[in-house]
Amino acid sequence: MVGRTIRFDDGAAYEQVMGIWSQLAGGIFLDWLAPPSGLRWIDIGCGNGAFTELLVERCAPEEVHGIDPSEGQLAFARTRPATRRVEFRQGDAMALPFPPDRFDAAVMALVLVFVPEPAKGIAEMARVVRPGGTVAAYMWDMLGGGFPLDPVLVEMRAMGVAPPRPPEMNASRMDVMHDLWTDAGLDAVETREITVHRIFAGFEDFWMTSLKAGSLGPTIAAMASGDVETLKSRVRARLPADGDDRITYSARAHAIKGRLPM
Ligand SMILES: C[S@@+](CC[C@H](N)C(=O)[O-])C[C@H]1O[C@@H](n2cnc3c(N)ncnc32)[C@H](O)[C@@H]1O
Repeated sequence: MVGRTIRFDDGAAYEQVMGIWSQLAGGIFLDWLAPPSGLRWIDIGCGNGAFTELLVERCAPEEVHGIDPSEGQLAFARTRPATRRVEFRQGDAMALPFPPDRFDAAVMALVLVFVPEPAKGIAEMARVVRPGGTVAAYMWDMLGGGFPLDPVLVEMRAMGVAPPRPPEMNASRMDVMHDLWTDAGLDAVETREITVHRIFAGFEDFWMTSLKAGSLGPTIAAMASGDVETLKSRVRARLPADGDDRITYSARAHAIKGRLPM
């Protein structure tokens, strides 16, 4: 029996399938936030540190804390040379282990749909950020076709195979995100779409990378080999290669930022 929850227990595998995508979107997100240097940050659901690394490299922070429930992800995050000064610890977005007003900015990169009560998570971000500080996030447009693994998911569903889903898919909708931010009392709320492109060396590269996803790998491994071959050829048909056999796939995220009232 394949598990119905998505597990994040292998930071190295995560890096290849989703860490690269996260950094592509994260770079555009940080350009959009355009934060001053010297801020105190908390990265919630920091996972294997893919976004945390960008934060350190681009934003010259005063300090960064990373919180995630998965020790497997955090273990990888701690191996990144760029994140040596980051304090990583296990924790839950809905009960942050920090006092009020502790940070200048709180961010969630690709996490919102995994938090069982997103409103509680945003309220916690708002609690730990000082007046005038920033609360921001980006999440793939899970319901609008923006998820990087959609070509596989769509074909699995068409074949009657249902991989596990994040518990709060609705929280990836732009209107729902906007409501979450305003309901948490945040001001100056702005949203934008982020579209990113990733080039794969060929279809096998795309396929083997997809199998490393905690949301897909175990389900595909449990399928009969003939069904896997059928799935593979259906996915291949969705992904035209260029003259060099490379595949370029585009993913789309929703981003949001708001400010704590003074
Ligand atoms: C798609 S990954 C994103 C990781 C990283 N932020 C990135 O940009 O690559 C989602 C992360 O959310 C974490 N997560 C799941 N439930 C959570 C919760 N209740 N509170 C905080 N993080 C959670 C998972 O362990 C996982 O590392």
